[in-house]
Amino acid sequence: MSKIQNIGVLTSGGDAPGMNAAIRAVVRGSLYYKLKVTGILRGYDGLINADFMPMDGKSVANIIQRGGTILKTARCDDFRTVEGRAKAYQNLVDNGIDALVVIGGDGTFTGADIFSQEYDFPIIGLPGTIDNDLEGTDLTIGYDTAINTVVNAVDKIRDTAESHDRLFIVEVMGRDSGLIALRSGIGVGAEAILIPEAKTTVSDLVYRIEHGRKDKASKIIVVAEGDEAGGAYNVGETLKKKFPHHDIRVSVLGHIQRGGKPSCMDRVLASRLGVAAVEGLLEGKSKVMVGQINKEIVFTPFAKAIKHIDAAQITPGWLRLAEILSL
Ligand code: F6P
Repeated sequence: MSKIQNIGVLTSGGDAPGMNAAIRAVVRGSLYYKLKVTGILRGYDGLINADFMPMDGKSVANIIQRGGTILKTARCDDFRTVEGRAKAYQNLVDNGIDALVVIGGDGTFTGADIFSQEYDFPIIGLPGTIDNDLEGTDLTIGYDTAINTVVNAVDKIRDTAESHDRLFIVEVMGRDSGLIALRSGIGVGAEAILIPEAKTTVSDLVYRIEHGRKDKASKIIVVAEGDEAGGAYNVGETLKKKFPHHDIRVSVLGHIQRGGKPSCMDRVLASRLGVAAVEGLLEGKSKVMVGQINKEIVFTPFAKAIKHIDAAQITPGWLRLAEILSL
């Protein structure tokens, strides 16, 4: 029999579409097992400041379709300190919370890992980030929605590019990871994709433009924000100097990629993982992230989950595909 009676749930780091569906699943999953649930506001900030609210079935009604997070989120510096984590632990004890579900990305799990080592406190993580850069799950909650947002936006840009015979450089999110750029780049038929994990240089781009098919009316180059070329504006400046007669424009998609209604895939993934997190805690699991690999539920230690996906293995295949398809 598990001793857990009251599960705290929080969202932390950058918001991602599907976080609300995940909160709903954690709450309803806990109620199903007759547990109490406490919502913690603004991630680890709320843990340190005891910003708690009891949650019931109704408190998560009508949120599965909403973007953002009803619990709000933050990137919390205080939780990086020993004092901050001590306050957080005391607040959990004082409020009778005996386990945590944290929904976020690598920063969230790094904090959770340190905290659960220090206090031997049961914690399970749910992968909520648009970046899809965690080990231990095929997809993170929010990634599917984000790449569809990018595809919808770039399809519109393509209309203008095609009508004006323009080259567009489109910057997508991904400070440390090019996975949004890779998949959305394939999805929009990009002529080239620049990502931090691959050393495609602007000179490679120039070569491709010079030697590419001459009858192309439009060209789209997708750049991940973390690419070493320094973002879409820098790439644009270099290309404008090299090709003064080309009509070149830059578009930075920014935070539209984090918002909006979650896709059905993200809602279903969040729902499944949310209930699995509660069941994992009841089975005594801790210090792990719950993910889905090949349709199966998998628990991966935080320390392994936060190691970024081995991009060296996956990117050459995707980039080769993009190159073949852009001929
Ligand atoms: O981690 C998600 C993410 O959207 C990254 O892709 C991006 O680099 C970062 O968050 C932006 O963070 P902020 O909203 O704090 O500027």
